[in-house]
Amino acid sequence: MSKESSLIVGLDIGTTKVCAIVGEPTYPNGLDIIGVGTYPSYGLKRGVVVNIENTVQSIKHAVEEAEHMAGCEIRTVFAGIAGGHIKGMGGHGMITLRNREVSKRDLDRVIESASALSIPADREIIHVIPQEFNVDGQGGIKDPVGIYGIKLETKVHIVTGQVTAAQNLVKCIHRAGMDVADIILEQLASSEAVLTPDEKEIGVVLIDCGGGTTDIAIFVGGSIRYTENLTLGGDHIDRDIAVGLSTPVAEAKRIKEKQGSAYADLVPPDETIEVISVGGRRSRTIPRRELAMIIEPRMEEILSLVKREIIKSGYQDFLPAGAVITGGTVIMDNTVELAEKILGIPVRRGLPTEVGGLKDVVANPVYSTGVGLVLYGTRYKGDKKLRIRDEKVFKKVFESMKTWFQEFF
Ligand SMILES: Nc1ncnc2c1ncn2[C@@H]1O[C@H](COP(=O)(O)OP(=O)(O)OP(=O)(O)O)[C@@H](O)[C@H]1O
Ligand SMILES: [Mg+2]
Repeated sequence: MSKESSLIVGLDIGTTKVCAIVGEPTYPNGLDIIGVGTYPSYGLKRGVVVNIENTVQSIKHAVEEAEHMAGCEIRTVFAGIAGGHIKGMGGHGMITLRNREVSKRDLDRVIESASALSIPADREIIHVIPQEFNVDGQGGIKDPVGIYGIKLETKVHIVTGQVTAAQNLVKCIHRAGMDVADIILEQLASSEAVLTPDEKEIGVVLIDCGGGTTDIAIFVGGSIRYTENLTLGGDHIDRDIAVGLSTPVAEAKRIKEKQGSAYADLVPPDETIEVISVGGRRSRTIPRRELAMIIEPRMEEILSLVKREIIKSGYQDFLPAGAVITGGTVIMDNTVELAEKILGIPVRRGLPTEVGGLKDVVANPVYSTGVGLVLYGTRYKGDKKLRIRDEKVFKKVFESMKTWFQEFF
């Protein structure tokens, strides 16, 4: 019981795979990964649940495997959310200080005031993340507790999503027999697992390129500044290859994962690959460069859209730490080189490394979100007010705002 109650579980319901990751916090603030379960995902399109039953089945399989490995029963999970319906925007909160001195309670109040904005009835607030505080006109304050003043203001980043998309996600998890502790934007989870505090401080963009989505998060001055979710990913490359080489999609995916390259010029001209044709015809041998010439324009499109978002954010000149790319698609050869060319900033591959236990298993860009969800969840440790999200009462959890907020100090 005592062991199980301290375990934290992340459930990443992706377009290609569902993965459940069990973490055990270690003293003083480490984390051991003790269970990993993965199963192909058949119920999502572009990051959003479109088939409940298929999704439930994938969740059950992934969770069973993780339970088996960890020797525990999973009852509550931290789940990721993504998809084109997610919107990030700036917000502002303001209150007057009754006691002329900022208290912890005032921080909660001012953040709450920032989330009191009017959003359409079909949208739901997923995160309200404070960036900085301002006391009586003095801005740029990270920890205002104890400061004297009359007026407290905060700048926040607000993430909203479609109520129905979030409800469907929660419904699948409930049907699979578990509760949801909280829902976390996937790229925020990934950033927990792959970015260093220094990178977030000096300015960095995280790009999580998965099967159906590419998710972006920009951090400057230690805080989240911009988020965007694009509905393009590795699955689109599979379809391009299937059409371009007249081969079944499953075969296209296989050769992409085995021999793909994102940058045709970097593929030696003499390398060749075998391709099975549709309709059971004999396999052919083609230059590997030909495959790369199909992949590159799609990767270029995705990265150009990312670049457009970076420019739109207004932070393009504030990213000295460059870009960190993660998600299954970036495993492909030469994605770092192509990303550097398109984005014009330094790029590195990111994967979860700062954990113990099954470290070698999760040291893979496909596990960034799953491990990040566990890391996010560990910050709830000891918080008795941890709220369980419910399908019907689907109002924003104030606790999750506090968590982001605690990270701040
Ligand atoms: N070695 C590889 N080379 C190229 N692509 C790869 C490789 N391994 C995995 N991929 C691709 O990565 C994608 C899956 O990545 P990931 O597991 O991060 O996605 P997901 O989390 O399921 O989806 P999403 O986050 O978009 O909902 C697939 O398109 C898969 O083909
Ligand atoms: Mg993903």
